[in-house]
Amino acid sequence: MKRKVLGVLLSVAMVATMVAGCGSSSEPAATDDAAATEEAADTEEAAPAEDAAEEESADTAAAGGKIGISMPTQSLERWNRDGAYLDEQFQAAGYETVLTYSDNDSARQVNDIQNMLADGVDLLIVAAIDGEALNTAMDEAATAGVPVIAYDRLIMNDAVSYYVSFDNYTVGTLQGQFIVDTLDLENAGDTVYNMEITAGDPADNNAGYFYQGAIDVLQPYIDAGTLNVVSGQTDFDTVATAQWSTDTALERAQNILSSYYADGTQLDVWLCSNDSTALGVAQAITSDYAGSNSVLITGQDGDEANLKNIVDGIQTMTVYKNVSNESVVTLGLAQAILNGDTIDESLIPSFGIECSYDTESYETSEGNPCPSFLLVPNVITADNLQDLVDTGLYTMGEDGYLSAVQ
Ligand code: GAL
Repeated sequence: MKRKVLGVLLSVAMVATMVAGCGSSSEPAATDDAAATEEAADTEEAAPAEDAAEEESADTAAAGGKIGISMPTQSLERWNRDGAYLDEQFQAAGYETVLTYSDNDSARQVNDIQNMLADGVDLLIVAAIDGEALNTAMDEAATAGVPVIAYDRLIMNDAVSYYVSFDNYTVGTLQGQFIVDTLDLENAGDTVYNMEITAGDPADNNAGYFYQGAIDVLQPYIDAGTLNVVSGQTDFDTVATAQWSTDTALERAQNILSSYYADGTQLDVWLCSNDSTALGVAQAITSDYAGSNSVLITGQDGDEANLKNIVDGIQTMTVYKNVSNESVVTLGLAQAILNGDTIDESLIPSFGIECSYDTESYETSEGNPCPSFLLVPNVITADNLQDLVDTGLYTMGEDGYLSAVQ
């Protein structure tokens, strides 16, 4: 986990101009300059615009270029939305796009990205399956002078120019604080609440932040004995879930319930880092937990099945991340990069989306911070589902259940 924990997320530091890698110059690399000059020359030799409208469209076409969008999988609900939103945003802005989903297969994602580079993309947007497994493709992008935006999940390679995500550590602290507030742990007295933990994919750099953010809030209550992890399974590697798999989370939860709760021990809380794992844990509790109490279950992403479980009182909360907004910020950043604009917090008003600019917290390699634009996550419970409908990205049926617009 590449994080230097530092106070203020907003940084006023101007990104240092570097030859390559994270924070790389906002000026295209030499090869890009040459290519761009050649392309511009070709455009000028092409049929000159007849009038202002045609000149405008010629400029838009010339300014567009080709964008490679590499998403990890379609088996996890949110990435289908990310891919669709990014594709729509860039095409509406006049770019040609190449969108791939790599079925949670890292080797395939390397190949997909290599194909995009061979296809002559001008910029890459990559949500990594495994943040440490893309070096071949990232090194090729750096050699080709193609800027890379790490999308949502950080990539451990200095070829990455910038990072767009949500404040992942805050996602975790929101989950932890929700547990503290809902159970009023501050005033628990001698009451002990039994808790279990399910974290995310260890190959996903985000998973460590979600886990650490929650644990940093909950640790004092674990140390005081107010929260008791009955299974004793608390370290990240033990509670992690490969590929965020619902089935893997279900199986581990069933094993824990049969090993530690079959004797009537009460389970009060299950900290889950996201909705796909929360779905598996909720299924295990529904089928295998003998207690009569409802268990507080956390989640993240606002997946449809989990929102239904929240309406039905099976899941207690999810941390919602508006990935449509994430695509808008990514478009704005990409345009600034391709236009050779200065990249810093002065870009934020042009996004029209609340986010912070951070040049210290995320590192693509030891000591190499990656300038990041971090959006703001929100807690959703049965009490504020209307907030999701108000985004225009969900509709609510007569049954009170929410459906995503896409
Ligand atoms: C994370 C992402 C989360 C979570 C998970 C599953 O990287 O930030 O939203 O859902 O992947 O895709």
